[in-house]
Amino acid sequence: MEAATADSVQTPASAYKSPYEQWKESQRLDTIRGFHVPNLLDLELKPWLARGTVAGAFINLDGTGGFNDTYVLEIPPQAQVEPWRHIFEETIFILKGHGSTTVWTEEGKKQTFEWNERSYFSLPPNAWHQHFNLSGSEPVRYVAMTSAPRIIDSFKDLDFVFNNPYVFRSKFNSEENYFAEKAGTNLTNFVADVLARNPVPGGVTTGGRGGGTVAQGYNMVNGSVRSHSQAWPSGAHSTFHRHGPGIHVILLQGRGYTRLGPTWEELERVDWGPGSMFVPPEGWWHAHFCTSREHAVFLAIGWGTDKPKPGGKQYDYSKSPQEGGDQYRFSDETPDVHMEFEAELRVNGAVCRMGAVHPHCTFK
Ligand SMILES: [Fe+2]
Ligand SMILES: [Zn+2]
Repeated sequence: MEAATADSVQTPASAYKSPYEQWKESQRLDTIRGFHVPNLLDLELKPWLARGTVAGAFINLDGTGGFNDTYVLEIPPQAQVEPWRHIFEETIFILKGHGSTTVWTEEGKKQTFEWNERSYFSLPPNAWHQHFNLSGSEPVRYVAMTSAPRIIDSFKDLDFVFNNPYVFRSKFNSEENYFAEKAGTNLTNFVADVLARNPVPGGVTTGGRGGGTVAQGYNMVNGSVRSHSQAWPSGAHSTFHRHGPGIHVILLQGRGYTRLGPTWEELERVDWGPGSMFVPPEGWWHAHFCTSREHAVFLAIGWGTDKPKPGGKQYDYSKSPQEGGDQYRFSDETPDVHMEFEAELRVNGAVCRMGAVHPHCTFK
């Protein structure tokens, strides 16, 4: 028998819509695409009637590779979102406003916790949850990251994803105070203020990601999401490194830019400030540059760090690429990278603080 040709077994690419894309269409929201979102607070939203008197937009950035997605949702003063549950994971960062969330499973008691601007938390998969705006005058806006694309496309059955009786007791067994913030550990299911919890950067050193970065990791609801906040000083930048897809970088404070590309010869640039979000594509080299007088802080949410690189090995930041690792040293950079940075600092009236650690620095 003759082998089937691609033409006879595949739907033409132009006609194909994944189950996830079809689900999004049923929600009647726009999907924002591209490389980055300049400001999540400015995004235009449309009524999301399926979830109540709220508004939203889906975001599918190129760097996710379809691995995960984000959406933005706004709740008017004193309004609430309709309760929903879903077997995919969901992580929420509050962009503005004050409110509360009630979480429950059919077999357990309801629990409610309050949040404010810069609060960050995860919903246990398949737990019912409902968000309330507790302000009489200010809207609430949040950005959520979910694994909806992978889950909906894997099962191709919305009833299984959104109307499933299974309780994930390994993640949430209605434990009391489940959402109370825990200090001194990555294992907290709630953070009241990401900015307040992240260490304040001190001097510029070569350790870790370089440039004096200080970070705080989060591993919530015994799920598969990996996230961390990270700060580094004004007048400093990180080393170039790479990782898997779908790590959403959301800027909380400071201004600057990120250089990123598959090779040194093809570095693109994303400029950012508070409210910006971008996703470095899988395996692209990237480094973050803080050019404001204020130090920079971001929250990075994703699964991509745990996804093996092509070939099956894990990303290794203890070695340079010449040794098979995934983080360059400052001495590997071409001089133009740091010269561009210093020129930009001069324009902003800020000074470079990397004299002791960067071979191309002119501020010795
Ligand atoms: Fe990164
Ligand atoms: Zn310098």
